[in-house]
Amino acid sequence: MASKAHEHLLDWLRDAHGMEQQAEQMLKAQAGRLENYPELKARIEQHIEETQHQADLVEGCISKLGGSPSGVKDTGGKMMAMMQGMGGMFTTDEVLKGGIASYAFEHFEMASYRSLIGAAEYAGEPEIKQTCEAILKQEEAMAKWLEDNLPETTMKYLQRDETEGATAKR
Ligand SMILES: [Fe+2]
Repeated sequence: MASKAHEHLLDWLRDAHGMEQQAEQMLKAQAGRLENYPELKARIEQHIEETQHQADLVEGCISKLGGSPSGVKDTGGKMMAMMQGMGGMFTTDEVLKGGIASYAFEHFEMASYRSLIGAAEYAGEPEIKQTCEAILKQEEAMAKWLEDNLPETTMKYLQRDETEGATAKR
């Protein structure tokens, strides 16, 4: 571990790894509940696969710096508390709250990777920087999809809610 910047980079990559594990849990819970929103469910399932791959990529960056991932519960600190608070929104049995929480969480992830990109550049770790840029693109794509689809999903919810015998919230 050469410099202070490297130590921070390693810590922040561990945070990102915990964040991806948290994301996977939340997305799985959300996809598992959805019954009447097949497009949303499919997009979430695609992002679960991406998220698993992202966790592996971040783990690779951690190993490259000579560390090992600490796992969700050991990450600790304010970041984790905040993510868990957001995670609470996913436990709601309701498609729109889940969609809104996902959109917010994707932006939290995007901010984390933007910061990591700067840290990797400062520390002189171009490969780690590239990895973070590639992950950032996937988070942005997911956020954009939700951005484009939340109004429509909401209209579908309202329509189902007015239809006798139809379930709206899942
Ligand atoms: Fe992610």
